[in-house]
Amino acid sequence: MNIKGKIVTLRQMSLADMPMICDIFNDPELENLVVGWAFPLSIEQQKQWFEKNIGDNRNFRFVIETPEDGAVGIATLVELDWKNRRAAHGIKLANKERRSKGIGTDAVMAIMRYAFDELGLHRLDGAWFDFNIASKAMYTKCGWKVEGVRKEYVFKGGEWRDLTVVGVLESDYRKLIASNHYWD
Ligand SMILES: CC(C)(COP(=O)(O)OP(=O)(O)OC[C@H]1O[C@@H](n2cnc3c(N)ncnc32)[C@H](O)[C@@H]1OP(=O)(O)O)[C@@H](O)C(=O)NCCC(=O)NCCS
Repeated sequence: MNIKGKIVTLRQMSLADMPMICDIFNDPELENLVVGWAFPLSIEQQKQWFEKNIGDNRNFRFVIETPEDGAVGIATLVELDWKNRRAAHGIKLANKERRSKGIGTDAVMAIMRYAFDELGLHRLDGAWFDFNIASKAMYTKCGWKVEGVRKEYVFKGGEWRDLTVVGVLESDYRKLIASNHYWD
């Protein structure tokens, strides 16, 4: 079953998505904004990664699609811990022009609904750099809360960066949709 937001559809990745995924991981602007990192990546390496990782049911990486533009980014639910019913989430929109149009918010709402209403998870983990205004605004709007700061946790661009650890509980999500009527 594909995962539906109000705007976006989240679907399984296919081999045909690998050029977009490769571009995302090779984009220095994106890498600067996110916690993860990658060596320069060739399309052959990206395709090998796909062959190895497809079917992994602890790490879901969905393609975000919009009706106008098709595939625009990725949203993840990874490190699924079925006993403690939690997972980590991350999101990247590939193209700057597609940002600030509500796509990220809708994708996170859809991920939360899937995580809490379908997978039966209890909480989701995330993180942001404090300078990432869009990320902070999006997650805060979606009911995520700051849980702490990991000092000098990430080394990027020649500096040690603090990482703000955030999370959302199923109960936070339920309160949010009861107050903003997102799905009504
Ligand atoms: C973070 C990201 C997923 C947000 O998605 P998006 O579609 O751009 O965000 P939305 O349009 O849903 O906006 C969410 C909120 O953030 C605000 N916002 C978005 N971009 C902003 C910007 N550049 N500056 C200030 N506020 C911004 C919006 O105004 C909105 O708040 P509002 O509804 O109160 O006005 C997207 O910008 C992105 O892919 N960034 C690069 C990768 C990244 O940073 N990933 C997250 C790592 S933690």
